[in-house]
Amino acid sequence: MIEKLKKAFIETFGEGDVQFFFAPGRVNLIGEHTDYNGGHVFPCALTIGTYGAVRKRNDDKLRFFSLNFTKAGIYESSIHDLKYKKEANWTNYPKGVMWAFKENGYEMTSGMDFMCYGTIPNGSGLSSSASLEILTSKVIIDLFGFDVDMIHASIYSQQAENQFVGVNCGIMDQFAIAMGKKDHAIFLDTSSLDYEYAPVKLQGAKIVIGNTNKKRGLGDSKYNERRAECEEALKEIQTVKNIQSLGELSEEEFEAVKDVIGSDVRRKRAKHAVYENQRTIHAVEALKADNLELFGKLMNESHVSLRDDYEVTGKELDTLVEAAWQQEGVIGARMTGAGFGGCTVAIVKDEAVDDFIKNVGAAYKKKIGYKADFYVVEIGDGPRQLH
Ligand code: GLA
Repeated sequence: MIEKLKKAFIETFGEGDVQFFFAPGRVNLIGEHTDYNGGHVFPCALTIGTYGAVRKRNDDKLRFFSLNFTKAGIYESSIHDLKYKKEANWTNYPKGVMWAFKENGYEMTSGMDFMCYGTIPNGSGLSSSASLEILTSKVIIDLFGFDVDMIHASIYSQQAENQFVGVNCGIMDQFAIAMGKKDHAIFLDTSSLDYEYAPVKLQGAKIVIGNTNKKRGLGDSKYNERRAECEEALKEIQTVKNIQSLGELSEEEFEAVKDVIGSDVRRKRAKHAVYENQRTIHAVEALKADNLELFGKLMNESHVSLRDDYEVTGKELDTLVEAAWQQEGVIGARMTGAGFGGCTVAIVKDEAVDDFIKNVGAAYKKKIGYKADFYVVEIGDGPRQLH
């Protein structure tokens, strides 16, 4: 990969020293739509991700080039012009991160040439954008010697996404990528950012991701709508109970106060947030106790809750997951990420993986009319410089 990047970099930006970096993508095993509700999540970094090749410049120019969008050519900007521009396309992510670092007192002293190449399918919900953000964080920390740890890098990257790009996401994706650890998932409490690594020992099974290949549509606006519904439900609960977030409630506590929520829809949304958080805590306990069967059952329940109470699945994700549940050797399967399209995650016994891909793929094609893609993935490390 380094050789390929080096050749392309020199062809695009000219001879000289080049430094290489990598940041992973992520998949969330359980704990969906809990991160902006002060709940827990359990994601892990992947071995697929975004590669970067960079070189500092002697002037203030920023030049960006992506090997995924070669036809777009070079995008030019400057460290004094870190503003969101629609036509700047994907470069709004690295520019947003540079802007967020500057807002927090870490200003770049020169420009750079920046090339990237992503191996995460675009728009699949495996966080290609957070991967690019954390890649940029790692690049500028190393190039400019900023004293910023990876937790702060994830906070600044989320700030870039929220305030620069304008997507109101939680901290999960950036944190999972910035703090990734091979063969471990991250049990993160999003209210405090306390976290713990839990080994993912799959005992003869694999993580299989299914990509619905559904074009993204209303996803972002629906995402913000769900956030608003949860915030509203929280306010209603706060009239009778002193809490800061839905993540503080146990199932019993929620049941005791739920009637104060003035609409069925908001009650369902809040129920999901509370129950999913508790499910995530139980799932991590199950994994630690080597009870993979219970972990899988909780994954399935997570999907049902996202389908019926949170209503973020849709025909494509439901078809993939429900077909997965029919298969031999499937320990658990659910949608992952924001929903409304994107990917599913399943834990499948080694010997059943080939049939799983064949049969679930066929059922999906038959019902939806186009094909799904499948990736058997490994849990990888966080961002790093490559030598
Ligand atoms: C997206 C967001 C995350 C999280 C998930 C849903 O991936 O970026 O912050 O809210 O959706 O769990």
